[in-house]
Amino acid sequence: MHPKMSVKLAGLVLRSPLIVASGVLGSSTRLIKKVSENPSVGAVVTKTVTYNPRPGYENPTAIDLGFGFLNAMGLPNPGYLEYRKELSEIKDLAIPLIVSIGPSNSEEAAEMVKALNDVSDGFELNLSCPHAEKLGLEVGSDPEKVRSIVSSARRCTTKPLFVKISPNVTDVVEIARAAVEAGVDAVTAINTMKSIAIDVNAGKPVLSNVYGGLSGKAIHPIAVRIVYELYEAIKIPIVGCGGVYDWRDAVELILAGATAVQIGSAIVYSRSDLNILNEIEKGIIEYLKDKGFNNVMEIVGLAHTS
Ligand code: FUM
Repeated sequence: MHPKMSVKLAGLVLRSPLIVASGVLGSSTRLIKKVSENPSVGAVVTKTVTYNPRPGYENPTAIDLGFGFLNAMGLPNPGYLEYRKELSEIKDLAIPLIVSIGPSNSEEAAEMVKALNDVSDGFELNLSCPHAEKLGLEVGSDPEKVRSIVSSARRCTTKPLFVKISPNVTDVVEIARAAVEAGVDAVTAINTMKSIAIDVNAGKPVLSNVYGGLSGKAIHPIAVRIVYELYEAIKIPIVGCGGVYDWRDAVELILAGATAVQIGSAIVYSRSDLNILNEIEKGIIEYLKDKGFNNVMEIVGLAHTS
């Protein structure tokens, strides 16, 4: 028998535990529609939208280091009001659409959530982008700011609220607990690691912004460690994110405690060939069959009991 792959996550039912991570599809609604037609995709998270439009940073904004990507796009987006218009054109999506928002304070969070509420199935608060002034990590590393932004978003929606947290803090549990106390439904762990690459010939940093976020294979063990720690500390679902390239990486995060898993860099590496998601799902199914499980939910957090 085929093991059951659907999962319940923060009030949503996903047909598969695989979620397309924020940033992978840009903000293109055409791509969101295309991705939703892939049966291995359980949900999709949009590119982060901010209160004001942002042009993004100058090139170079991304570099493939071989063991992962270093990028600082600068959260380019048209601003939440313009993006609302684009999202309202998407009709009859077969999977939940989670809108990623990057507020810099509680007022912005409230305005954005109210405006985007009827064009989304849930929100992911990006409080973790490691290189944007007054946004992301600059607010997400302070538990009081996290509490205030999450409470404000919570007051404005009954839809599932996720918070994407950063590995670039001393105590991830403290940040996650602040979000839980403020009413978040699930925690996405992790966003990228703040990093720099230097071009030795030019003798200067590669990225125009100097600092970027490292994603992909290199950060996978960090993601596994943080999901593991969070699973022991908080009682709400965790979404694992970080260097999932194949079914083993996905299973590792699920065993550590993730109910669902986001895929980002691997889609970029495969040049947006979404077959990679089918391969990952197929591998998880084979693993479950092999181990005698009937349902992917049975293995969530299992590494903690063995
Ligand atoms: O540069 C960027 O747009 C990155 C966003 C993020 O790390 O959240």
